[in-house]
Parts: sequence; structure tokens; C-alpha cells
Amino acid sequence: MNDNMQRRVKITGTGFYVPERVLTNFDLEKMVDTSNEWIMTRTGISERRVVEDNQATSDLAIEASRRALKNAGVKVEDIDLIMVGTSSPDTMFPSTGCWVQKGLSADHIPAFDISAGCTGFLYGMIIAESLILSGTLKRILLVGSEVLTKLVNWQDRSTCVLFGDAAGAVVLEESNDESGILASYWKADGNLGDLLSIPGGGTRIPTSIDSLQKGLHYIQMKGNEVFKHAVKRMGEAAVEVLRKAGLKKEDIDYLIPHQANIRIIQATGERLQLPSEKVYTNIHKYGNVSVASIPICLHELKEAGKLKKGSIILMDAFGAGFTWAAVLYRW
Ligand code: ACO
Repeated sequence: MNDNMQRRVKITGTGFYVPERVLTNFDLEKMVDTSNEWIMTRTGISERRVVEDNQATSDLAIEASRRALKNAGVKVEDIDLIMVGTSSPDTMFPSTGCWVQKGLSADHIPAFDISAGCTGFLYGMIIAESLILSGTLKRILLVGSEVLTKLVNWQDRSTCVLFGDAAGAVVLEESNDESGILASYWKADGNLGDLLSIPGGGTRIPTSIDSLQKGLHYIQMKGNEVFKHAVKRMGEAAVEVLRKAGLKKEDIDYLIPHQANIRIIQATGERLQLPSEKVYTNIHKYGNVSVASIPICLHELKEAGKLKKGSIILMDAFGAGFTWAAVLYRW
């Protein structure tokens, strides 16, 4: 790296893990009053993965982490921090990050969770960039992992068809060339917290017979409202991050949007006037896997050989909070 080059943080390894069990829309037709046609046209989801009863979020995260570390060619001992984005932690506390640290035998390095809904992976990239560029840490393992199928009400057709289980992980460190994070943008609006939440089980509404009978331990969502805010904020984040980097829509090689609904994804692509082949989607295979969706997309794109040196990638997400963020990245 020459002295004039801007210091950047880049991804040096990727990996993901999904449980083996597949639940198709046709399986769901036998469980709730829905149809493959409704789910496909309204969401773009064809099937999703579901964990076994004995699998928790950290189990998926640990497997995805092992694969990302191997892909980066580094050992657990080379990692300085574990951050896990999740909305479905193993336990209220300790953090899933600590369970992952235990599972990886990553002795005594700090570990914690990021709770930012589906935006957690991009929040994590922004935090990692700052920690690495400040010289505080050298190499960070960032994982997005969710077991959302244990948090949905399987009698509520408006939510149970949407979510799946998965984990994606990346290793981040300082770049030695021009690749890496070019610009970022992250926001939150707590006034919209009730649009998408699990209201029960915390200190506002502790678990009780009443809270359980009311189903407050399940995901509650005002789908229509979430949809409108998602389209607006994904567009805003994309435009703002491009402006910050001084790049244009035409410079984007791939948009990697959070995979929540194909119509939200398409609306974001249209806002950027991108042809559909530049908008990466895998929602048909996995459903909405929240914070795991962007790292899985990244891994798949990379493994398909579609990312060339210098490719410009726009990662764009929204989630519970309400949170939204974008990261512009040069491969
Ligand atoms: N099968 C059949 N019919 C259904 C289903 C279903 N699975 N779910 C809802 N319906 C019905 C509704 O009851 C309603 O019927 P009605 O008109 O008789 O009342 C009708 O379909 C339309 O319902 P809407 O909610 O208006 O449908 P919409 O087109 O908005 O699609 C959806 C619903 C898919 C949930 C959409 O609003 C959406 O994707 N919203 C965003 C969700 C999202 O991105 N969430 C992010 C969560 S990520 C995180 O941070 C954890």
C-alpha cells in the first residue's frame, strides 16, 4: 500500500451454513390457510430451511464461522473479536457471541451481539471498519445468524411463511490495496419499533401465563407498514451512500439487498434503475433469514465467480428497530 492510498477494511473470507431440513410452500399449504401461489407472488419465497429441535442460533453461527475462517485461510487464534448480529439469540444472556466464542474455542477474545434486526450485518461492518482503522483490533469475525422459525407463530399465516433459519459469516481486516468499504450510511427510528417486534419476554412485558396466552413471545409484524418504510429507507440509504462515495448508480455492479420480500428488492433495484441481473436474490431458496441474508448473498456471488477485482457492490438493508443502512464496497 502506498502512502497516498486511503486505508480501507475488506472482507478476506466468507462462509455460510443452512440447516438441512427444507420446508416448501407446499408443506405450508398443509399447515395454514395459504397457497404456493400467494407466497410466491407476494414474497418471492419458494422454500426455507428449518433447524432441528436441538439446534440453536449459535450452532448455525459456529458452522458458518468455521467455513469463513477456512475461506480466509486464518485460524481461530488469529481473530481479535467476535460480533454476532441476531434477533433470535440462544439466550437472553449470555450473548450468542459468547456461545460462539465457546464453540470455536476462541480463548478470551471479546464477543458480543448486535441487535439491529435485519440491518445487523451492515451495522457490524461499520463497527468493524471503525475498530480496525482506529488500530484497536486487527481481524474481526462478523456473523449474522438467525433461528426465526422458533420465534414465529406457526398458526399465523401472515408471518410463518416468511422466515427461515441460516447463518452467514465474514472475516474483516485492513486492506492492502484499493478494495474494501468505500462508504457507509446507518440510521434508526425507534418511533417505528412497534411495526416489527417480539413484545413479550423482556422487561417491558416479562414472560407470564398471560403473555404466553396472548402469543407475545412470537414475532408480531404490521407487514404493510414495514413494506412501505422498507422501500423508502432502502432507497434513501442507497442514494446517500453513493453520494458519500462520490459514485453514480451506473457504477454499481451488484446490488445485494436484504432478502425480505422480492417486491421490496425489485422496488429498490428500480429506484437505482438497475437491470435485474445486477440485483442479487436468493430469497426463493431461504426466505427471510434476516441478518444472515447479506453475508450469504455475498458468499454465493463470490463462489459463482461473479465478483471481479474492482467490482462495486452496494449492500442495502432495513430491519426491526426500525433500522436501515447501506455499505458501498469495492471488491
Ligand atoms: N397466505 C394467504 N393469504 C394471506 C397470507 C398467506 N400466507 N398472509 C396474509 N394473507 C392475506 C391477508 O389476510 C389479507 O387478506 P384480506 O385482504 O382478506 O384481509 C391479504 O392476504 C393481503 O394481506 P396484506 O398483508 O395486505 O398483503 P401484502 O401484499 O402486504 O403482503 C407481506 C404481506 C408479504 C407480509 C408484505 O406486507 C411484506 O412483505 N411486508 C414486509 C415484511 C418484511 O419485510 N418484514 C421484515 C422482517 S425482517 C426483520 O427485521 C426480522
